Amino acid sequence: MRKIGVLTSGGDAPGMNAAIRAVVRVSRSKGMEVVGVAMGFAGLVGGEMRALDERVVGGIIQHGGTVLGTARSEDFEREAGRRQALANLSAWGVEGLVVIGGDGSLRGAHALYEIGFPVVGVPATIDNDIPGTQIAIGVDTALNTVIQAVDRIKDTATSHHRAFIIEVMGRNCGYLALMAGMASGAEMVLIPEVETPVETVVDELTRAYARGKLHFIVIAAEGAALKAHHLRDYLGELEGGTFEARLTILGHIQRGGSPSAFDRILATRLGAAAVEELRKGASGTMVAYAGGKIASVDIMKAIGRRCGVDTGLYQLAKLLAK
Ligand code: F6P
Repeated sequence: MRKIGVLTSGGDAPGMNAAIRAVVRVSRSKGMEVVGVAMGFAGLVGGEMRALDERVVGGIIQHGGTVLGTARSEDFEREAGRRQALANLSAWGVEGLVVIGGDGSLRGAHALYEIGFPVVGVPATIDNDIPGTQIAIGVDTALNTVIQAVDRIKDTATSHHRAFIIEVMGRNCGYLALMAGMASGAEMVLIPEVETPVETVVDELTRAYARGKLHFIVIAAEGAALKAHHLRDYLGELEGGTFEARLTILGHIQRGGSPSAFDRILATRLGAAAVEELRKGASGTMVAYAGGKIASVDIMKAIGRRCGVDTGLYQLAKLLAK
């Protein structure tokens, strides 16, 4: 393989730049040229491409976001869009593509593979909802961002003897909420995988205050059935006003910021492995993290399934919240 392309797609995740850097520098060290595609699959359809060399990816490893830009493209979902993408890749002489992103991006990668173009996926999303890899690029940094915010909120919650609901991202997956709950010692975690009636929250809250707790922190996944703002309203409307709660939606600050050491190293290893995959002729695969090692899995394993959180960890978080 003489020339490969690289793109980032979907929601950005801290560490994407480290992955791009690894793809470019490993490829160049093997004598290959690299073409960067701007703005994900939209840029692939639109032909927004440029050559990348070692210098262009200098000084980016410590930055969040993605220097290539990213987007969610509907054009690529249509056959005409995919044909145009193939024509652009061929015009640039690109023989294989590394796709860095989450579930939707890996679906795009799979579509390219199905029409015969060599492609390897690299999992990157703060949601950690990609089956086939234990962890995706960006999760560790996002978790650290969340727990820093929770620690701060705890200070004010304790001072005012208040309940706080903190909504975190994760789409339909409760991983970020559960792990943030464990790592910050939250009193309760609401995740899509476990149904929690609002009455259960009130019971837990009542018991926590009776045990002498000075605050009550609920980490609510955005995908949980019991929505954070509904819970806030419900608690606020209870008679006596005892359980007045404040709501903080952490939002996109969870996606930004300098990647953690773990994410930089993970992204570097996955980016390097993706190049090796293409070099050895693999296609339709995703590089993955498994038990401390980098592995390769069929991209079909990575798409189309909901993530599953470890219910044992959910129980442990619950037990420790006493
Ligand atoms: O997939 C990453 C993610 O940040 C989700 O956690 C969230 O639901 C979604 O993207 C937000 O998307 P957007 O940036 O388009 O608002």
